[in-house]
Amino acid sequence: MRKIINGNQMVMGTCYYPEHWPESLWEEDLKRMLAHGITVIRIAEFAWSKIEPTEGNFTYEFYDRFLELAEKVGMKVIFCTPTATPPAWLTEKYPEVLNANMDGVLYRHGARRHYNYNSPVYLEKTRIIVEKSASHYAPHPAVIGWQIDNELNCEKDVFYSESDSMAFRIFLKAKYKNLDALNEAWGTVFWNQTYTDWDEIHVPRTTYSDSTNPHEVLDYTRFISASARAYAKLQRDILRKYIKLEDFITTNGIFGNLDNHQMTAESLDFMTYDSYPNFAYTKEDYEKFSRTLGDRMWSRNLMEVRSISPNFGIMEQQSGANGWNTRMAAPTPKPRQMTLWTMQSVAHGADYVSYFRWRTCTMGTEIYWHGILDYSGRDNRRLDEIGEIHKKFQSIQEIAGARYQADAAVVKDYDNIWDAQLDVWHQDLEKISQQSLFIAAQKTHTPLDFVYLNDEGSSTPLENYKVLIYPHPVMLSPERVRLLENYVAQGGILILGCRSGYKDMTGKCVMDKLPGLLTNLTGVDIPEYTRTCPGDEPVIIHWGQERLEAPVFNDQLAAQPGREKYTRVLGYYENSYYAGTPALVQNTYGKGKVYYYGSVFTERAAEVFLEKLGVKTPYQAILELPECCELAVREKDGKKYYFVLNYSRENVTIRVKCPMRNLYTQAVTAGDVTVEAYGTRIFGE
Ligand code: GLA
Repeated sequence: MRKIINGNQMVMGTCYYPEHWPESLWEEDLKRMLAHGITVIRIAEFAWSKIEPTEGNFTYEFYDRFLELAEKVGMKVIFCTPTATPPAWLTEKYPEVLNANMDGVLYRHGARRHYNYNSPVYLEKTRIIVEKSASHYAPHPAVIGWQIDNELNCEKDVFYSESDSMAFRIFLKAKYKNLDALNEAWGTVFWNQTYTDWDEIHVPRTTYSDSTNPHEVLDYTRFISASARAYAKLQRDILRKYIKLEDFITTNGIFGNLDNHQMTAESLDFMTYDSYPNFAYTKEDYEKFSRTLGDRMWSRNLMEVRSISPNFGIMEQQSGANGWNTRMAAPTPKPRQMTLWTMQSVAHGADYVSYFRWRTCTMGTEIYWHGILDYSGRDNRRLDEIGEIHKKFQSIQEIAGARYQADAAVVKDYDNIWDAQLDVWHQDLEKISQQSLFIAAQKTHTPLDFVYLNDEGSSTPLENYKVLIYPHPVMLSPERVRLLENYVAQGGILILGCRSGYKDMTGKCVMDKLPGLLTNLTGVDIPEYTRTCPGDEPVIIHWGQERLEAPVFNDQLAAQPGREKYTRVLGYYENSYYAGTPALVQNTYGKGKVYYYGSVFTERAAEVFLEKLGVKTPYQAILELPECCELAVREKDGKKYYFVLNYSRENVTIRVKCPMRNLYTQAVTAGDVTVEAYGTRIFGE
């Protein structure tokens, strides 16, 4: 039985760095943690030199002493492999282990994650350190699980070293077998890029204005993901040989250019995430994207995590101000905000929440990344709040293992995500629609999932959902189309936005009539399309009583001739030169229905779809909430738990329409309830 995330208990932890503090502090620190409900710590993720101070010399005494103490006081430990920070002796002697920028300039020692996943030397050094650490520390009774590395693909998710070019060629040979096939897939006839020898192929290199072959870059991104996954798998295979049967393997964070779903399936028992909701206020895109919801935007990341592991852990939960000396400067959590963010994580499926970090570091780049305690370690408000959270955790133990509930899901896939990264036409659509769908669902208290699709299937069964929204599946394979057709044929409702189906899986445009492979499923034809023209009056789509803005892109639709029995035009463009042209077509397919919408989904359009298709605000008979509150529902053994999270700085009134148990107090509650600023409530049936 796994020691955490086992469906039986809610557990609190923290990240601790024994190597940062005098040993004389250790025992007091651990006992203070335990006194505040923290029973698990994560250690050693950056401490390679403590175990292998010089090449080939291994010393275990430091963590032996620490683990002995942990066992003595009753603290459980998640031990880490230290590969995120190769030691100076290693990078100096073997510079080929280093990552490089696009010009091939190596990233030198001094930061972290400066290695590459493909250097044979680094792979060998990794094997050795993981083998040594695992064989020595895994049997220890205090150790309950392992974290692989730290935040794979964080800091840099692109790799341009010589080792990467060499490995890229191997990856491509396995995929294409011969150069003719590669040249065809990459469309190298364009601009005379044809390759005549595998050695002419490199990871992308500097070109002017960053323009390079998009089909190559797409394969390169797939290659990075495969490299990171193989690296995790290499470590996992070694760990498995040594860890106790009931112990677990995880890694933390979800970062770009990495198929986290596949990595988890191959190498992890569950995913853990590092949740810093205050980032919402430091991101460059704050003005554009985060402003409406602020720290509540982080719920979108938690949706991603639970699409990978429905019950997951938070390895690093924000407990102080965030900042490096070189970048980022965010405020200290206000009173109750740590509780709010903790319950945000729990609401989405976290059964383990570990705070980053116990005490704020006095040295290095992260001197402003505050932990629970400040530099002095004195008692403070945030430590008190941890104690309060612990009391709440004790009162919500029955929630452990409960799963988030949603009738609607947004469909995603890594190929389209990666294509959108390098295709600004695609990117613009995706950003707006993803953002709008999330915000509309949040504001209307409509629980929403993400479900990831690949050729083999989906991260959760599609038929779990009444409604699926696949905003812009620009790239599609026949396998994926078949999965969608089966879902709809069996009674599902599928909503598609503009630009669906115009590329194949190499990222090249199809020569078919659009929407390409989706023609049969949608019953739609797209004779013409355009980006909207800046400066023109906004294009409007008329759908029943609704007049919806249709910015950025407009597919001008026609129902396919001969299928009138099945298709219905529900919406028309109201203006521009295509006024009167169909903009929304419904097609009956088997027992289900498909809606092809000719534009991006604005917040209003998203809300109208949720409403008209019967999945909006499903709990309105039970709870009435102001917009500023998030509603999340977890369910276990037929029992539902309702999370109400108030992100506003004001007290708000909510209405509990049928009597429910307030889990924090066990009191039966009904009627109007005041939820204080940043307050949370959890109700049980
Ligand atoms: C990440 C890392 C931590 C620490 C924090 C704060 O999530 O995993 O090691 O760097 O961010 O920057």
